Amino acid sequence: MSKFYVELKKVVDDSYDIEVGRNLFDTLVKDLKGELGKGISKYAIITDSNVKALYGDQLYQRLTNEGFQVDLISFPAGEKSKVRATKEMLEDEMLAKGHRRDSCIIAIGGGVVTDLAGFVAGTFGRGIPFINYSTTILGSADASVGGKTAVDTPLATNLIGLIYQPKKVYIDLATWETLPKEQISNGLAETIKHACIADYAFFEFLEANIEKLLEPDGIHQYAEICEHIAEKNCKIKYEVVKKDERETNLRQVLNLGHTIGRAIETLSDYSLLHGEAVAIGLAMQVKIGEKLRYINPEEVNRVICLLEKAGLPTKLLDNMSTEEVVQKLYTDKKVRKGKIRFVFQEGIGKIKQYEDGNYAIALEEDFIRKTINEVR
Ligand code: GLY
Repeated sequence: MSKFYVELKKVVDDSYDIEVGRNLFDTLVKDLKGELGKGISKYAIITDSNVKALYGDQLYQRLTNEGFQVDLISFPAGEKSKVRATKEMLEDEMLAKGHRRDSCIIAIGGGVVTDLAGFVAGTFGRGIPFINYSTTILGSADASVGGKTAVDTPLATNLIGLIYQPKKVYIDLATWETLPKEQISNGLAETIKHACIADYAFFEFLEANIEKLLEPDGIHQYAEICEHIAEKNCKIKYEVVKKDERETNLRQVLNLGHTIGRAIETLSDYSLLHGEAVAIGLAMQVKIGEKLRYINPEEVNRVICLLEKAGLPTKLLDNMSTEEVVQKLYTDKKVRKGKIRFVFQEGIGKIKQYEDGNYAIALEEDFIRKTINEVR
């Protein structure tokens, strides 16, 4: 018998730039002609049916005119497309169009596009580079940064995926101008989450300004508010990701409001947008946190008022029973040894850390059930 030791210690540099600006196709072209495009023979633009019509076709034309080898592949817009079948379709299309290991994916769209395209990139040819070009507030606040890629399954969201970092992220604020109102609110939920976790002054800024973005033409008129929001979201998120990319502890704080939020998103069969479900989850989280004395009633009220100002729901849907929500909580990725675990904010702008250093705490099912029943 023989025994071998395969020494494979690695130092990996997955650093990348995030560029926030307006109309960034020129910058993208310049980057692809430079270092970012080094070694790439062919590009696959991946997008959804909505973004294809608004920006995907334009990007395809632009890159083709610049002399790049490009294909554009799209899938129907919506969370229901974020499944294994769409991943397979995208992979088969890429193979059929001759993409191999010297290809690069450009994901242009919101979180569904970047999660799916990033997952395809992570496994295609055992991993090819990808670039995120974010066109939504939600995507810029969350999915486009941090390298979490995934698909949903009937049981729950995001259970199958990879941590695989993009080579660069572009956040194009001009594209926010074509977002319907509900998609503005959708992105503001993750924005409020970031303020609750890490930045009291940002929370106050949102209290003073968030409603302006929902005015007709608000995104265009208040460009500097959009820029501040995009920059704050990026900074708060990447500071966490830098310290704990693989979510051993700290990164769980980005899950604030998601324990209940993700459960009800799946239970609603995606009739609730991600941000709507997270908003309800955030509201439930502050109410449970109040019972645990992590936050006072005035602060709870401020969080709920801010969510409402952003046009978001804060109450559990009537057609969802507390019991089915509680049972769905067991599909959460923070569950350990069969226990449901939550993260909580401490007041506003700070996250609760426990004496053992953990950011998540296990709660008894009965306590959760009773509290949901009281506050729903
Ligand atoms: N969406 C939470 C995270 O990126 O960790």
